[in-house]
Amino acid sequence: MKINKINFSHNSISNKDISAVSKVLKSGWLTHGKYTNLFEREFSKFVNSKFAVTVSSCTAGLHLSCLALNLKKGDEVILPAMSHTATSHAIEYTGAKPVFVDVEKISGNINVNLVEKKITKKTKALIVVHMAGFACDMNKIQKICKKYKLQLIEDCAHGLGTFFSRRHVGNFGLSGCFSFYPTKHITTGEGGMVISNNLKFINRIKQLKAFGIDTDIKNRKMPGKYDVIKLGFNYRMTDFQAALGYHQLKRFKKNLLIRKKNAKLYQKYLISKKIQFKKYDEECSYFVYQIFVKKRNELVKLLKKNNIGVSIHYAKPIPFYRFYRNKYNYRKENLENSIFYSNKSLSLPAHHQINEKKIIKICKLILKFLNEK
Ligand SMILES: Cc1ncc(COP(=O)(O)O)c(C=O)c1O
Repeated sequence: MKINKINFSHNSISNKDISAVSKVLKSGWLTHGKYTNLFEREFSKFVNSKFAVTVSSCTAGLHLSCLALNLKKGDEVILPAMSHTATSHAIEYTGAKPVFVDVEKISGNINVNLVEKKITKKTKALIVVHMAGFACDMNKIQKICKKYKLQLIEDCAHGLGTFFSRRHVGNFGLSGCFSFYPTKHITTGEGGMVISNNLKFINRIKQLKAFGIDTDIKNRKMPGKYDVIKLGFNYRMTDFQAALGYHQLKRFKKNLLIRKKNAKLYQKYLISKKIQFKKYDEECSYFVYQIFVKKRNELVKLLKKNNIGVSIHYAKPIPFYRFYRNKYNYRKENLENSIFYSNKSLSLPAHHQINEKKIIKICKLILKFLNEK
């Protein structure tokens, strides 16, 4: 069979999922309903956290986590220079200052050895990102947080199914924030989940995600009777999105195994001195399969011409986006690995619709391209 097109991502949406969404749509109860509860319960079971709360996006979850920490102008938060800008925007929204740290060259995760140098009296928290599904060294990170009394938030947008020492990511600090954007492991269109093992913290998140109202809809004695005690937001997920997420999560374990199998296949076929990649890690969830090559942009064009969907995570370190550059004027010398990462990394598809035949096709093209260079 000829392979015509290989998509970068593929959503696992079955007829059963569509029928569940359709049932919610016809039910007359479209938000904070049965599926929201089911999805939250199933999610906390999957990641083994005490609490899980649906939100409208991972960005919203990160923002709420920063708000629940009471971050404000004058505070500083340390984060990696390589991530989606959502990670730093969440800090900015509160008025606090994001303090960028360079990443490790091949993992793209925050370089823990550089964190201590950035800690000042104003530092309140650390946000880590588990890049491409590879967990950060949470032992070292927790030690630093404990030593300097910093709060820890995990950006787990790439991390569903990622473990560190057999513990699911998102459980190491005050909260873990997940994304269900369509390219992610599971999707609700837009959407996210905040997990926590701290009751007080998760209650603050719940309140802030729904206008700062004091009484949950299920606990109101009179409809419409409540008080507003905080300047909250509307960051809720709809119930039909929750239905979509719930059913995909039920199948996710099987899909995760395929991602891992695909990562092993890439390692088997992509053998060249001109390619660098991370050693296979059984605890990684392989959001994508990342490699590092010279002439990356030329290779992207070639793969695209051959109908192979790829991506770059991310083509610029956050401090060099115009908004952050104008505001903080970060110097390039301190962010060398982030610059390497943004110029050389290439994200290949690893999802459950990729198979050995497709991987061979991708690898052959890459190896031919590199041999000719
Ligand atoms: C590392 C990281 N954090 C946060 C986000 C934001 O996620 P969302 O689109 O669900 O707000 C993304 C989005 O892709 C991401 O890659």
